Amino acid sequence: MSQTTVSREEAINANIYVHAFLANAGEYNKSPHFRPENKEKVRNILLRLTAACREKNKVIDFGCGTGFMIHLMHDLFGEVHGVDITQDMMKQVDLSSGNVTLHESMAESTPFSADTFDFATAYSFMDHLVDYRAFLQEAYRVLKKGGVFYSDLNPNRDFIMAIAGAEKLAGGVLPITPIVHREIQGALHNGEHYEEHYGMNAELLEKAEPIKTHDKGFSAVEVLEAARAIGFSDCRVEFEWFLGQAKVMHEQSRADADTVEQYLNAVLPVSSHLFKYLRFVFVK
Ligand SMILES: C[S@@+](CC[C@H](N)C(=O)[O-])C[C@H]1O[C@@H](n2cnc3c(N)ncnc32)[C@H](O)[C@@H]1O
Repeated sequence: MSQTTVSREEAINANIYVHAFLANAGEYNKSPHFRPENKEKVRNILLRLTAACREKNKVIDFGCGTGFMIHLMHDLFGEVHGVDITQDMMKQVDLSSGNVTLHESMAESTPFSADTFDFATAYSFMDHLVDYRAFLQEAYRVLKKGGVFYSDLNPNRDFIMAIAGAEKLAGGVLPITPIVHREIQGALHNGEHYEEHYGMNAELLEKAEPIKTHDKGFSAVEVLEAARAIGFSDCRVEFEWFLGQAKVMHEQSRADADTVEQYLNAVLPVSSHLFKYLRFVFVK
């Protein structure tokens, strides 16, 4: 399930429209992943992954947007390179650290030589592509041997399919709780939400996220197979943000959320449909 009905050109134009719209409306940096608890989580992952890096000269962030990753890792590397197609997003990147360079380029075909980077990141990005395999190929090409690729916040197909199943039951025998209702809206009707609240074209939002809209997210097994076929040597997937985790964190406690998370991790892959996102870590 990786063929979409959106052409690459349509996806690019839709991405530029949607992201310029959100950036210029001052809405993009209000996305949930900018919340402090998520930033802390990502920073800790970066510290864990970079601790094992032999060199930390150059990092590339694919689909850098307004600089979510750049701001969390500019102190960890000598040079930070951000790649994106939407100028209106990139103009909000904080360049004050002095070691950040931005490139207006397609992530699937960058201007860099092979074997350039020690580390590569792609956050909330891969589902915006029509062909994620072509992108993984490019990430592999520009990484040095031993370099690490870290991609996060990739929608989990198992979760979206479970939510689609829940929607079919809505109004039937089983009551739908507010938490599940919210996920039905976010996972399956995001376009309508943005059209209603911000006047954004819903069809274009769906075209900007072809893998979420048409493939219903990523299959962990399929992505791992693709990465191995490209040549990555060590390929790992982690599951994150279980359904309702933020609510448990805020309304109960961080300790309760950690206990549930540990338990669900202990019963993977049976529990995979309860995690919203997939995190991939591949070594070249
Ligand atoms: C959801 S945003 C993520 C931005 C940032 N990584 C973050 O976590 O906030 C996706 C970004 O990918 C960019 N993008 C979409 N398709 C792209 C492509 N083929 N090549 C490079 N950038 C692309 C969009 O312009 C947008 O800035």
